[in-house]
Amino acid sequence: MKSLIQKLVETPGPSGFEYAIRDVIREAIADAADEIRVDALGSLIARVGTKTDEGMRVMVSAHIDEIGLMVTHVDANGFVRFTNIGGINPLTCYGGRVLFMDGTQGVIGMDVIGPGKMPKLSDLFIDVGATSKDDCPVKVGDVCGFERPFLDLGKRMVAKSMDDRIAAAVAIEALRRLEHTPHEVHFVFSTQEEVGLRGATTAAYGVDPEVGFAVDVTRSGDTPRFSPKMATALGDGPAIKVRDSSFIADPRLVDWMIKAAQAADIPYQLEVLEAGGTDGRAIQLTRSGVPAGCVSIVCRYVHSPSEMVDSDDVENAVKLLVKLLSEPIILG
Ligand code: CO
Ligand code: ZN
Repeated sequence: MKSLIQKLVETPGPSGFEYAIRDVIREAIADAADEIRVDALGSLIARVGTKTDEGMRVMVSAHIDEIGLMVTHVDANGFVRFTNIGGINPLTCYGGRVLFMDGTQGVIGMDVIGPGKMPKLSDLFIDVGATSKDDCPVKVGDVCGFERPFLDLGKRMVAKSMDDRIAAAVAIEALRRLEHTPHEVHFVFSTQEEVGLRGATTAAYGVDPEVGFAVDVTRSGDTPRFSPKMATALGDGPAIKVRDSSFIADPRLVDWMIKAAQAADIPYQLEVLEAGGTDGRAIQLTRSGVPAGCVSIVCRYVHSPSEMVDSDDVENAVKLLVKLLSEPIILG
């Protein structure tokens, strides 16, 4: 699974520009899905199984876009100013490297700012090695992602887009391993999550699910000193989301997910994320409303170029997702 993860995290795909990563995923699931389509916003939707008397139409959504940058201005000396695509922390930018969709590479520099001052995005620029506007290979509107190779630390793995490619890996692996399901499962590899759950919004409308799950990363509360006061930790199992700032998971579904994890002896933790949203909101609020939940992979340093997850959490997230999709869903 690690080679799949490496391929997924190293393929660029800022929100709205997911064509390369979509091709990688299509290839990975081609043999296992019953039907694959792409909707108007570019989300890849793969159906597995047919609905039985005990089954439901189920949507599973993992977003395939990542945070990135978009060019706003190129100056006379060829320096490139940019704006954010999704939540970019200026602190994680300086000295970083970026990769444009056409393969152009660059580094992020910074205007001199006063001692003790935090940089803002407007203090930063990309240097692609140009000497003037005329020989600058990028133009206004071009997009890039952060460039950082996959780092295999054994039990822990680090990459620039674990959010949310690790969930895409989990969904792909669950799709492949799902042998018997009473459900018609629609695995959605959604676009534009980082700019407001846009791909999952149209995909959920199109799929018209009776129940849905997002799969996404969540923050960890296990780093020193400045970590948010959060109960999640790397290695303690996939997290069953109770709430984030975009939606409240259906409590009946949360209870059922907990019981399923316990029955299958899969470690799990409960998640309340105070700042951050997921595709679960888009599923829950589509049409006249859908019971929705979320399986989260705990991740350190979310939205930095070095997001860290735990290999056992990833494997257990696959197991939990397969378990959830293999049985009738009982909402007590
Ligand atoms: Co994110
Ligand atoms: Zn995410």
